[in-house]
Amino acid sequence: MRFFIIILVSYFLQHHCINGRISLSEHEALLGIKSAITHDPHNCLSSWNSTAHYCTWAGVICSSESASNRHVISLDMSAFYLTGTLSPDIGFLTNLRYLSLSSNLLSGPLPSSLSVLSNLRYLDLSWNKFHGSLPSSLSSLKALQSLDLSNNNFNGPLPLDVAKMAELRYLNLGLNNFSGEIPPEIGKLQFLEELNLESNALSGALPSELGYLTSLKAMFLANNKLSGDIPESFSHLNNLTDLDLSNNNLSGSVDRLGSFQSLIEILMDNNMLSGSIPKSLLGLPNLTRVFLNDNLLTGGFPETRDSVALNLVYLNLSNNELSGTLPPTIGKFSSLQSLSLHGNRFSGSIPPQIGNLQRLVQIDVSSNNISGKIPELPEVGRIVKQFLSRLNVIHA
Ligand SMILES: *[C@@H]1O[C@H](CO)[C@@H](O)[C@H](O)[C@H]1NC(C)=O
Ligand SMILES: *[C@@H]1O[C@H](CO)[C@@H](O)[C@H](O)[C@H]1NC(C)=O
Ligand SMILES: *[C@@H]1O[C@H](CO)[C@@H](O)[C@H](O)[C@H]1NC(C)=O
Ligand SMILES: *[C@@H]1O[C@H](CO)[C@@H](O)[C@H](O)[C@H]1NC(C)=O
Ligand SMILES: *[C@@H]1O[C@H](CO)[C@@H](O)[C@H](O)[C@H]1NC(C)=O
Ligand SMILES: *[C@@H]1O[C@H](CO)[C@@H](O)[C@H](O)[C@H]1NC(C)=O
Ligand SMILES: *[C@@H]1O[C@H](CO)[C@@H](O)[C@H](O)[C@H]1NC(C)=O
Repeated sequence: MRFFIIILVSYFLQHHCINGRISLSEHEALLGIKSAITHDPHNCLSSWNSTAHYCTWAGVICSSESASNRHVISLDMSAFYLTGTLSPDIGFLTNLRYLSLSSNLLSGPLPSSLSVLSNLRYLDLSWNKFHGSLPSSLSSLKALQSLDLSNNNFNGPLPLDVAKMAELRYLNLGLNNFSGEIPPEIGKLQFLEELNLESNALSGALPSELGYLTSLKAMFLANNKLSGDIPESFSHLNNLTDLDLSNNNLSGSVDRLGSFQSLIEILMDNNMLSGSIPKSLLGLPNLTRVFLNDNLLTGGFPETRDSVALNLVYLNLSNNELSGTLPPTIGKFSSLQSLSLHGNRFSGSIPPQIGNLQRLVQIDVSSNNISGKIPELPEVGRIVKQFLSRLNVIHA
């Protein structure tokens, strides 16, 4: 009897309380996580049984300290195709640095116990069916460098104190139903390299604080209800290579686009942008894809003087109010494969230099006031001719 009491007392001494619950061992926590899974079609969790130590279970990695002091540091259950929920017992794996549950069918709200995992560097819950608003306590994950909650059914506002996750390099909250404005506090994430908030229901203006994200390489904000101007501060985004603001309600000028020296891809189609396209844009050295179609842009085709974007592959300026003639310099974009100028007010004839575009496979200049002869096109232009012959405004 005394022996039993000693065991009992030592059990309670080893196990402390979190949130009023008696703590579980890592072994018990993992079994708790398994018991919240209702369907495991590929038997991915069959190794999660008592014949082997839990450090050998599928997806589990333990620290390689002495056998008595090993801890679960990584749990990767991505693409296990599991149905069920995420057990709050996850909060007892306090040594976790890496957690991926991506590409499952997990549902329900996020357990608030996630926010006690203060060692977590990497959290990926993308491609599931989690719903509800984000617990604001999530921002206590101060060591987090990568947070991916994309493609779930999260809603409500973006948490204001996301800025407390000061180590974030990668933040993806895309393909959810978040609403409200983008919190200006995001501008404090000085190490952030990729920000993805695309395909939500975000509204309001782009906060100028986003321009303080000088490490930013990619910003994806497409498919929201964002309005207002592109902030002046965006000209500080020197390291930006990919900018996607398409399918919003942004207005004002695109003056500053030419200052993004590192730009590879710029997608701003389907907005209310106006003014003329800066001449420097099509001179950016690494520029590959430009989609400015379906806006209210005016002025002429941006004629570059000094440098030319020799890597430019896609250029879509369709459905704007651009006018004037097409400059002969258009023949310098030697990588161009697709040129869409449909639905503008261009006039004059197609410059013969278009014949220099050896790679061109698609050209649409219909619904303009362009006339004249189709220039002789190189052999690869056979497909081009098909496109041209379909144009009703061209008289060969
Ligand atoms: C238990 O896990 C081991 C691998 O650790 C596996 O070989 C065995 O088939 C599992 N047992 C059951 C009943 O799934
Ligand atoms: C998104 O949230 C709004 C309320 O903010 C709601 O009316 C709408 O049905 C939600 N859409 C989806 C796809 O869940
Ligand atoms: C961003 O670009 C600036 C130069 O414009 C450079 O000094 C800086 O190191 C870059 N930062 C990163 C994180 O690449
Ligand atoms: C887009 O912005 C314009 C003003 O610039 C406004 O009149 C219009 O209602 C907005 N459209 C949507 C869908 O928000
Ligand atoms: C263009 O791309 C090359 C190769 O990735 C890179 O070395 C160079 O720094 C880039 N130029 C600019 C201005 O970003
Ligand atoms: C260019 O934009 C027009 C107008 O939205 C669209 O119909 C066309 O498919 C686009 N072209 C390419 C190559 O994406
Ligand atoms: C089309 O261009 C011709 C000259 O090439 C000009 O005379 C005519 O006014 C233009 N039509 C429109 C509708 O702009």
